[in-house]
Amino acid sequence: MRDRKAKRIGLAIVGAGRVGLFRGEVAARHPQVDWIGIAEIKPERAKLVAEKVGADFVTSDYRELLKRKEVTAVIISTDEHLHVDPILAAAEQGHSLMIEKPLATDLGDSARVMKAIEATGVDAVVGYTQRFRRRWLAAKEKVQSGQLGDVTLVSSRAFMNRLVAIDNYKRTDHPEKISPMVISGTHALDIVMWMMEAKTPVEIYARSIDKALGPEWKGIDATSGVITFSDGSIYQATISWALPVVWPGAVYSLDVGIVGTEGVLTIDDTHRDIVLATSKAQAEGYNPDTSRRVDFMGAILRETWLWASCADRCGTRPSSGSTASHWVCRHNTPPRRRLTIG
Ligand SMILES: NC(=O)c1ccc[n+]([C@@H]2O[C@H](COP(=O)([O-])OP(=O)(O)OC[C@H]3O[C@@H](n4cnc5c(N)ncnc54)[C@H](O)[C@@H]3O)[C@@H](O)[C@H]2O)c1
Repeated sequence: MRDRKAKRIGLAIVGAGRVGLFRGEVAARHPQVDWIGIAEIKPERAKLVAEKVGADFVTSDYRELLKRKEVTAVIISTDEHLHVDPILAAAEQGHSLMIEKPLATDLGDSARVMKAIEATGVDAVVGYTQRFRRRWLAAKEKVQSGQLGDVTLVSSRAFMNRLVAIDNYKRTDHPEKISPMVISGTHALDIVMWMMEAKTPVEIYARSIDKALGPEWKGIDATSGVITFSDGSIYQATISWALPVVWPGAVYSLDVGIVGTEGVLTIDDTHRDIVLATSKAQAEGYNPDTSRRVDFMGAILRETWLWASCADRCGTRPSSGSTASHWVCRHNTPPRRRLTIG
């Protein structure tokens, strides 16, 4: 007989910003999570997030949190350039890890973190959220099952306005360690390398430009590069996160083409399917800016976030065929704990 008794999870969240809150709210509704602790260096933010997720323990010191006996798993959701130390501390304690992308913002740090994870043998995943979306899962299945023949060429183009870039450059004292490919392009890179996992990359050539974000933020606007695999197949990746603020795509907006000897697959993930242009200020998105008057209303992004935000609070759970139920959710009701989601 299989043991159906699920293990309990004592979850530590290090960094309770936007993503820490979102992960915490979802985790608080997971039936196995019976304890949540938060480490956040900003006291007001720590208080707000602790209340929203119903945290059992709050501290500004992640080391104190990671040593708590209740902790079995850890989410690292600090700013991108501040992942390394909490990862190393959590791995040392032997905790399972979900690390928000990227692993680190420096090549040497990434190698150091990988070494520690391998040495301690902890279970660690990077939060590559795109892998959970139906379109990328379907594309992966088509590539893997040989529907395209042998893949010879992949291209990915990510375009974003500069709101996320400026947000990142503002949050760091080391802008030279932040780049569009490391912070945002990593999603496209991961998806494509996941599809190409049967092949071995052997060479990379890349160039960057910094005319828009360089002067004020000491940052990079865009990077374009080519990865060559051992069998000669190539992947061309381009990202710009320096488009003007008025460009509708404030979040990840991606076009991917995969060409094989027998077929081709193109994926439009730009969110252009619904475009809003209005004289009213648009204050939605990852980093809202009221000077914007346009928006790509990415259906899947909003659907996922809305569903996760209200899945256990709605009388009727939202589904793709039930638009009305999306709007009957009351987002301000506190999350319930130890719920069986059925
Ligand atoms: N999975 C996705 O699709 C996705 C989407 C957006 C962002 N992210 C990633 O999530 C991570 C967090 O992004 P965010 O937008 O939530 O950033 P954020 O700035 O909103 O939150 C980061 C929080 O970490 C806190 N912090 C920093 N150092 C700390 C420390 N040593 N101990 C405790 N708290 C600390 C900060 O005070 C801040 O509140 C980043 O790595 C980002 O790239 C992932």
